[in-house]
Amino acid sequence: MSVLFRDVRLLDPATSRDERVDVLIERGKIARAGVGAGQGLVHGAPGTDGEPLQVIEGNGRWLCPGFVDLHAHLREPGEEHKEDVQSGLLAAVAGGFVDVCVMPNTKPVNDTRAITEMLVGRAKDIGLARLHPIGAITKGLEGKELTEVSDLREAGARALSDDGHCVTNSMVMRRALQYARTFDVPVIQHCEDHALTAGADMHEGAVSTRLGLRGWPREAEDVIVARDLVLAEGAGARYHVAHLSTRGAARMVEEGKQRGIRVTAEVTPHHLLLTDENVLGYDTACKVNPPLREAEDVAALRRALATGVIDAIATDHAPHALGDKHCEFSAARPGMIGLELCLAVLLDLVRKGEVPLFRLLSALTVGPAKIVGLDAPRVAEGARADLVLIDPDASWVIERATLRSKSTNTPFLGRTVQGAIDVTMVHGRIVHNRKTGKELP
Ligand code: DOR
Repeated sequence: MSVLFRDVRLLDPATSRDERVDVLIERGKIARAGVGAGQGLVHGAPGTDGEPLQVIEGNGRWLCPGFVDLHAHLREPGEEHKEDVQSGLLAAVAGGFVDVCVMPNTKPVNDTRAITEMLVGRAKDIGLARLHPIGAITKGLEGKELTEVSDLREAGARALSDDGHCVTNSMVMRRALQYARTFDVPVIQHCEDHALTAGADMHEGAVSTRLGLRGWPREAEDVIVARDLVLAEGAGARYHVAHLSTRGAARMVEEGKQRGIRVTAEVTPHHLLLTDENVLGYDTACKVNPPLREAEDVAALRRALATGVIDAIATDHAPHALGDKHCEFSAARPGMIGLELCLAVLLDLVRKGEVPLFRLLSALTVGPAKIVGLDAPRVAEGARADLVLIDPDASWVIERATLRSKSTNTPFLGRTVQGAIDVTMVHGRIVHNRKTGKELP
């Protein structure tokens, strides 16, 4: 089946091309992208390659490269009641993601070739978005013994991380960086000095004092980023800060880049949009690690995203069961889902003029792809057809019933958002269509 997107606003962050055109897809690739490229082509009739043609009338909707998520928890193996590879990838394509990197804090932990291979195989069988495992830095995420990087790499791991846990031992972290350097894989750190966050439930500040909850100070993130930059510089390794949340960490990443250290960083939608004030009322949906910070951190993160100091937006999609959140605050598990909501909640920042549209799109596509060594997603003739069609004006309400994820833990429930993913295409196949509800290939 060939597909023609007729009269779309092509937005290609790799080249800053922004033009109203027709885009023709044949044999999994972008065959033509230009004004009048679809002239004379008719829905249902054979296209230029003889295949039956599906015509999608764009009416000026946006056609962008498919999104890449560096940070998702799909919970398989071990906690499939929260999410599994299939439901996670359904959520991913509904959110416009064509590539999803999955964190290793599963049960058992992904610290072996066998689990990495299993995940790659599961995703291939399902055939929605592509899945890229992230292998553990240390066995069992215990922060002591390094995993076999060459095995993990060969099996398909794109990066290493102990996400959910920080590698706090400097000797272990130094070795991990040196080892990763020889295989040219990035080390993704969950920056948290656990000695400074023991028993903490939220950001340390006026709100935590008011609520009587133990605080997680900014310094717990900042001291790890500072130390790791020193270690990464020494090792010449690629170092990536997961879910960066403080103004201090943003400043250090900026300085590190200026000094030529191979550092990159990601930020989540929730750290760009919410503050510790959202926790008032003890809303467990807002419990997340690292915690929601203060308005000045949020402003610094938005600036860092707008200027390119932050390379990528990552969802930190963290599904949890109802019982993990319907409990007292200190017992609740940290995390929120994000794959399906990412673009819709973030477009507001573009409308308010805080983040340029092309910066947002870069941080969802070419930025993250580069970090994990994927082909740069493009909307250009000859490129693989990994695309999203976005209706920037569609207004919809985030509701439990319409989420594809098995879990619904998000503080954005009930919010009306503007902007929807209408179509997601992976390698020329439509894997999500919001209007028809067709999602499986
Ligand atoms: O809030 C979080 N949830 N942060 C993490 O680092 C881990 C994640 C999870 O696995 O639930």
